[in-house]
Amino acid sequence: MWFVRFLTSSIGKKMVMAVTGLCLILFLCVHAAGNVTIFVGSAVFQGYAENLHSHPVIVFIFRVGLLALFLIHIGVGLLLWQEGRKEGKNRYVVNTWVSKNPYAMSTMPYTGLFILFFVLIHVFGFAVAPTHDQMISHVIDDALSNFFYVLLYLAGFAALFIHLSHGFWSMLQTVGINHPRYNTLIARATWVVPGGFLCFFSLIALYLLTTSTY
Ligand code: HEM
Repeated sequence: MWFVRFLTSSIGKKMVMAVTGLCLILFLCVHAAGNVTIFVGSAVFQGYAENLHSHPVIVFIFRVGLLALFLIHIGVGLLLWQEGRKEGKNRYVVNTWVSKNPYAMSTMPYTGLFILFFVLIHVFGFAVAPTHDQMISHVIDDALSNFFYVLLYLAGFAALFIHLSHGFWSMLQTVGINHPRYNTLIARATWVVPGGFLCFFSLIALYLLTTSTY
């Protein structure tokens, strides 16, 4: 079947990486938008979280979809990386050798695995471990009042920044967003989007670390 043949080809796998990567970026945008309520106050954030969980079916479907996106992105990414190593050159970065960020490009599997480590700790701490009678606003405040926990979080955000600084650009190249007229804009977006996530999430962690009465 042409579709299976496409998906198992090098460009097909890159397309899968681009689409799943874009969906994960969109998830982060939604997550960041929800987390804005943290700055408004603990009651507002708590209200937002309770409102979200009052739709269990939607939350369940959303979580299954998110897990599938993560697994496909990681699995196909590792496959491309392994193929590249076997051939003695990194096929994963085909077409992207002109990247202005060779450091981010060559460390994609390592930053990716560190993000996975961060996400596992984060999801366990904030979504799995809390019991029903625990308020989520207290859970995040307890965790992010700890200096070493915040340090781990900042390391996770830094890995995300490095990963996206190449990944975002690579995704745009794969889907063909590459026009001389817009290349300056595209190059800026490569930094603005990951930089925005880095600043925003770090600000939340530092805010909770330094706020004594949340
Ligand atoms: C300081 C920054 C962050 C805070 C305060 C935060 C807060 C939270 C909270 C409270 C939850 C639980 C939501 C729930 O059970 O309804 C959650 C879930 C989650 N977060 Fe974060 N988050 C942050 C950054 C991140 C980052 C950078 C990533 C990805 C790299 C991420 C990925 C996730 C995922 C995958 C889930 C599970 C989704 C779900 O339960 O539906 N978070 N986060």
